[in-house]
Amino acid sequence: TITPTRADRFSFGLWTFGWNAQDQFGGPTRPHVDTVEGVHKLAELGAYGMTFHDDDLFAFGSTDAARQHEIDRLKQALSDTGLIIPMITTNLFSHPVFKDGGFTSNDRGVRRFALRKVMRNLDLAAELGAKTFVMWGGREGSEYDAAKDIQAALERYREAVNMLGDYVTDKGYDIRFAIEPKPNEPRGDILLPTVGHALAFISTLERPELVGVNPETGHEQMAGLNYTHGIAQALYQGKLFHLDLNGQRGVKFDQDLVFGHGDVQNAFSLVDLLEHGGPNGGPSYNGPRHFDYKPSRTEDPSGVWESVSANMQMYLLLKERTVAFRADPEVQEALAAAKVAELSVPTLAAGEGYDALLADRASYEDFDADAYFGGKGFGFVRLQQLAMEHLLGAR
Ligand code: GCO
Ligand code: MN
Ligand code: MN
Ligand code: MN
Repeated sequence: TITPTRADRFSFGLWTFGWNAQDQFGGPTRPHVDTVEGVHKLAELGAYGMTFHDDDLFAFGSTDAARQHEIDRLKQALSDTGLIIPMITTNLFSHPVFKDGGFTSNDRGVRRFALRKVMRNLDLAAELGAKTFVMWGGREGSEYDAAKDIQAALERYREAVNMLGDYVTDKGYDIRFAIEPKPNEPRGDILLPTVGHALAFISTLERPELVGVNPETGHEQMAGLNYTHGIAQALYQGKLFHLDLNGQRGVKFDQDLVFGHGDVQNAFSLVDLLEHGGPNGGPSYNGPRHFDYKPSRTEDPSGVWESVSANMQMYLLLKERTVAFRADPEVQEALAAAKVAELSVPTLAAGEGYDALLADRASYEDFDADAYFGGKGFGFVRLQQLAMEHLLGAR
């Protein structure tokens, strides 16, 4: 085992270890975890941050006094432990009033209420020093195509994010937004279902620089997509503002397993990318390593903390394995044979345009596609096998 430290920047949602394991088919299997106990436990186990939804900290509809009481207890626990709040998010999905969404409910009164709930929570985010404000629109969507005008819904989403961008700007808050995609669950179809949809939406906003993405491992995998690819594109576009790490085994309901307990190969390539950037030096990620998982319903309170540690352990073990992978001369040789670095060489020479390319006979008229590789392959499987041997600790 490797001991996590603050420098690893691990953070956990209050709703993760705090989940009492109630699901659609059965009641709680564990007691509720108190916020102050949770903060102390996280600090003891080596995390540096905790995140929360407004309603995780104080119940929906709390009086101002009850709300303040919980905020004060949290602040005390933070100052006692040194833990920080890197991210805050708003619950626009649990209360029945949000049954058709928050920002995109067909009902205008609900949309106005949702905006006010978020603005109040932005004030709290600023007060607690959170730098990222996540927007997960779990109820923004539909089950029935006839019941939702998707173009109008996107326009209302846009209106909401634009106004919230004005709000943080006018208030001078040092906060950026991160949209969290998910394809379905709880709605049959959720708006902005993948990283790609979210990135495209962000480009339509009035202050696109304030908005990035918060991709969750399992959510991309629920759509059958490659999480590492999504993260790579978000990094490439300067939009990886935050992330939710967990585990998922295939296209099915949202499992929220421990990080690495789902597709471990993809977790390996992900940690390699986050820690070291692309194989040819693209950007890496230096934000919080945030876990959004659920301790399985089978676990008792000690199992909850075991699973918290397991997330950090998996990340650190994978990190260690990726360092060994990169340092292995045989891997370097296999990377070269596979021409992984050649992809960083621009296709056109400096200053070359289509005229020069058209004049280059070697690129077309004399290019013998049939003879080009002379029967030689790329050797990608050998490279992958080396990666797997490192992943398994066999090298
Ligand atoms: C999920 C989501 C949610 C959000 C969280 C932030 O598992 O469907 O990850 O847990 O991340 O609610 O708003
Ligand atoms: Mn999830
Ligand atoms: Mn999440
Ligand atoms: Mn989640």
